[in-house]
Amino acid sequence: MIRIALLSSLCAAPLLAQDGGQLYTMYCSACHGTDGKGATGGQFPPLSLSPWVEGDAARAVKIVLHGLHGEVEVDGRTFNLEMPPQGGMLPDDQIAAILSHVRISWGNKESQVSADFVKSIRAANAERKTPWTAPELLKLHPLPGVRPPIANLLSQVYQGEWQQLPDFSKLTPGNIEEEHDGKISIAKAGFTELFGMVWQGDLTAPQDGEYRFRLDADDGARIILDGQEVVKVDGMGPMNGSRAKDGKIKLTAGPHKLRVEYFEYHGQEGIAIAWRGPGIPSWRSLTDKPPTGGPDPMPIAAKDGRAVVYRNFIAGTTPRAIGIGFPGGVNLAYSADHLAPELIWTGDFMDGSRHWVDRGQGDQPPAGEDVVKLSGTPIFPAEKEARFRGYKLDPAGNPTFAVQLGGQTLLDSWKPADAPDEQANSRQPALQRHVSLKGSGPALEILISDSAEAKPIDDQELSIGDHFHLHTEGEVDLIKRDGKTYLKLSPSTSATLDYRWKP
Ligand code: HEC
Repeated sequence: MIRIALLSSLCAAPLLAQDGGQLYTMYCSACHGTDGKGATGGQFPPLSLSPWVEGDAARAVKIVLHGLHGEVEVDGRTFNLEMPPQGGMLPDDQIAAILSHVRISWGNKESQVSADFVKSIRAANAERKTPWTAPELLKLHPLPGVRPPIANLLSQVYQGEWQQLPDFSKLTPGNIEEEHDGKISIAKAGFTELFGMVWQGDLTAPQDGEYRFRLDADDGARIILDGQEVVKVDGMGPMNGSRAKDGKIKLTAGPHKLRVEYFEYHGQEGIAIAWRGPGIPSWRSLTDKPPTGGPDPMPIAAKDGRAVVYRNFIAGTTPRAIGIGFPGGVNLAYSADHLAPELIWTGDFMDGSRHWVDRGQGDQPPAGEDVVKLSGTPIFPAEKEARFRGYKLDPAGNPTFAVQLGGQTLLDSWKPADAPDEQANSRQPALQRHVSLKGSGPALEILISDSAEAKPIDDQELSIGDHFHLHTEGEVDLIKRDGKTYLKLSPSTSATLDYRWKP
């Protein structure tokens, strides 16, 4: 009787004005207690300060919609009871109102839950017939200790042709999608050009203070927090750090409404966002790819006359790249996918700042100058059986990469060298490469360069562009074929190649 009376008085009120507190009393308090500490002296689990209520609201929405059974640990105590599903009885806006109330009551300090959010979760789980189990939910929505960077993240895709950020509020979006991992990503957009995306979610500032947001995009994007634009990269252009921008905003501890808008015209596409501030000492990525460039470099350099190794994604080569920074400002990126040296450059080696962020995703370009792209294809184009056999470092940190092909092993060693410079008394940067073929088998052709700029001077010399020169010694031939340059190496022989930058 009481329930009916209360409901009819609520129905008269506008839909948005659902009283979460009253609804909680009606639908939840019998089991979870009016004080949220669990009814009947804590025989039922508490909602006050429960990690199941914190962070990603999807977890609690799912529990209310379909119920929960089996073992669940709350606040250090294990319950093994049954919560009946409430989704058949409660419409989306009432569930939103109840959970919004629960998330700000009895010490909980979490963001509000919208009816749209509940609706999208209900739609996504329409086929579900059974209550959830705790392990099932934890897989989808880990507890706040490992909480996703953005809670309650939703995305919408727009189609259209823009060269500047459009006014998304005037456009018709596609379906609302839930982004479980809490990271902004265009991977699931379904388009690669002529589209836009808008993400909305809750970003929790750990403390009061000023936070910095770094944004890079191809093409345009902007970040809005609590309705205020923080930073914008507009118009068209690449995402390589050259257009990246930082914006600052003061935030109070707790959740804030994050909105990110993005558009892509033609060509490549991408968006990268990171933030830092009180309680977040290093850049934390909010996207599947963190931004490049900007301040706070963290140079990685050879130390005490010894080369350093950098194992992470290097722009301009393949994912399994091994970077070596030699003393004297010469550097190499070797691709373990192509079994070949792909980039060499002078000056600074790598800026490590990006890869000290979170799990360090994204490609880092070489930090120095005079980058020479030697090749971008496999070292033995026709030989599918070639295998990377790892690398060894000598006491000076100089690497030898090993490649196995049938009964033969190619050893590919690199070290810094100073090229003689007759004109001036200065020393030009150079790298010395020593390749040797062990075991028995046929003569092999090793890809040296697939650059169109590579021009053989004779069968021992090659120039690449205006500033780069390669000189070979030993029983070798440089062969030019189909625009590529190969080095022919007979069984059980070796060759020395000098890679020299010209003044
Ligand atoms: C009939 C009793 C009952 C009602 C009514 C009920 N629950 Fe529950 N609830 C439970 C039980 C029992 C569990 C633990 C289930 C288990 O052990 O697997 C639970 C677990 C939960 C959990 C996860 C564990 C925790 O304590 O954080 C949440 C969140 C939750 N309920 C929210 C709600 C909300 C919100 C409502 C009202 C819409 C509600 N429940 C109504 C009995 C109930």
